[in-house]
Amino acid sequence: KALRKAVIAGNWKMNKTRPEAKALIEDLKPLVANAACDVVICVPYTNLETALDLTKGTNIKVGAENCHWAASGAFTAEISAGMLTEMGVEYVIIGHSERRQYFGETDVTVNKRVRAALDAGMKVILCVGELLEQREQGITEEICGLQTKIALQGVTKEELKNIIIAYEPVWAIGTGKTATSDQANEVNGTIRSVVEKLYDKAAADALTVQYGGSMNAANAEELLGKEHVDGGLIGGASLKAPDFAAIVAAAS
Ligand code: G3P
Repeated sequence: KALRKAVIAGNWKMNKTRPEAKALIEDLKPLVANAACDVVICVPYTNLETALDLTKGTNIKVGAENCHWAASGAFTAEISAGMLTEMGVEYVIIGHSERRQYFGETDVTVNKRVRAALDAGMKVILCVGELLEQREQGITEEICGLQTKIALQGVTKEELKNIIIAYEPVWAIGTGKTATSDQANEVNGTIRSVVEKLYDKAAADALTVQYGGSMNAANAEELLGKEHVDGGLIGGASLKAPDFAAIVAAAS
């Protein structure tokens, strides 16, 4: 665990106008200034410039919440990885379950987006996670393992250093129902062992694997204390500075 970077990333999803983003970031900056973990805020495209401007010179990194796999072209409403890196965006969330659920994202398109993001020099927060019925069927580890394998196809061991994997059980996202720390640790451990088989033990030991799904100030410490939980991908609790800062503190 000591080998790995702890990373707390906020996923703002579809929230905050530019003035609201400015207010949140200004409130957040002093609260996380002494964080001992990496702090990332992944924001809507309309807030990227504001976030980049306001976090300049701070320990807060900026990410986007998706990117297309093409460099440019006839993909109305899409944003390319190159457009993001040109602005200075360093991270990008790929494969979030809401993209899979509502916008036709598949393991194959996730892999295409991962390729584009790595080629553009971005760090990827790759989301995997099972549906409630899959957990009830007892196939959680098979599902998360397969999502991981397909997403990482063609990714070299060197490129893996620019990937964070976030385990997000779909049934825990936005529901207030959090996986237990043992459940999170078990699946994160499975993800790590899949990566070990794909690459080697050193690569797997160095990989940051986050948990996401109703992580908050109250449960963060227990979750983050687990061997295979190296950070969090935070939705609702990232929209209020004190809440997000409390999770950062728990990871520090
Ligand atoms: O990407 C993180 C998100 O899916 C978790 O959402 O609101 O359950 O923290 P939330």
